[in-house]
Amino acid sequence: MADETDEIRHFLDLDLLDTDTLRGILNTAHEYKIGNKDYRPLDGQILAMIFDKPSMRTRVSFQVGMMQLGGEAIMLSDNETQFGRRESVADTARVLSRYVDAIMVRTDDPAKVQELAEYATIPVINGLTDATHPCQLMADIMTFEEHRGDVTGRTIAWCGDGNNVAASWVHAAARFHFTLRLATPDSRRVDPAVIAWAQAQGADIVETDDPVAAVKHADAVIADTWISMGSEDANVHNLFMPYQVNEALMEEAHEEAIFMHCLPAHREDEVTTGVIDGPQSVVFDEAENRLHAQKGVLAWSLIG
Ligand code: CP
Ligand code: NVA
Repeated sequence: MADETDEIRHFLDLDLLDTDTLRGILNTAHEYKIGNKDYRPLDGQILAMIFDKPSMRTRVSFQVGMMQLGGEAIMLSDNETQFGRRESVADTARVLSRYVDAIMVRTDDPAKVQELAEYATIPVINGLTDATHPCQLMADIMTFEEHRGDVTGRTIAWCGDGNNVAASWVHAAARFHFTLRLATPDSRRVDPAVIAWAQAQGADIVETDDPVAAVKHADAVIADTWISMGSEDANVHNLFMPYQVNEALMEEAHEEAIFMHCLPAHREDEVTTGVIDGPQSVVFDEAENRLHAQKGVLAWSLIG
């Protein structure tokens, strides 16, 4: 089992893949976007998509991506699979491996994704857990570079919750070699183990509770929801309001700074309408790039 599993191209997290591999996936994504690649390399291949959290972008972009590459996708909702409850994750992995060619999974506990990958004989792709959101970061790096050029050596500021997307930004800072400043309340920092991993890789990570310090001359400013899916913290408005990305905060950034958000967004909470709908916002390019980046990930996982 171990030898066989080692050869499977799982896309689980950015810290588990090297820079060359991630750059290769982004190059493929770009080639697909500009129409330079054979468009149906996954003819006859089927992706199973397990969602036990809501989704719009991830679900549609994986399904459309598979269709555009010549394959198909099957949606398995929580009602149908009761992932990790009706049977063991390992048995789901074993059975799906007999039916389909790859599995995309969105769930709460990253241990379930790891178990799926351990027992599947086909690639497993992490479509978000409570801990990370690596597919989002592939689209985000692609989007940054389309607007601002090579991300290497640049400065990116995160404002708000030290959540799953923030943790994947920390992984990305190590893999793509940029400075990441994280402005979060002290009680909502990114998992210290993730920060320690990135710093051990030589990443330049700055943690602060001061959003102005984080955003100063930054090349991109990022926000995300203050309440992630499955979070029980409903009363965080006052805690996070100082981290709202508004016009005054964007003024502190580089004059060509872009605003990014993985969406869905909550206008007038984590970002003002003026910023997200304003000229510095690239959020819909970012959403579009989920499709192209996913195709890069699918092609890498399924055809190498
Ligand atoms: N950004 C993102 O993952 O969106 P969905 O939750 O709609 O898939
Ligand atoms: N942090 C958000 C991201 C949604 C794509 C959440 O987990 O709900």
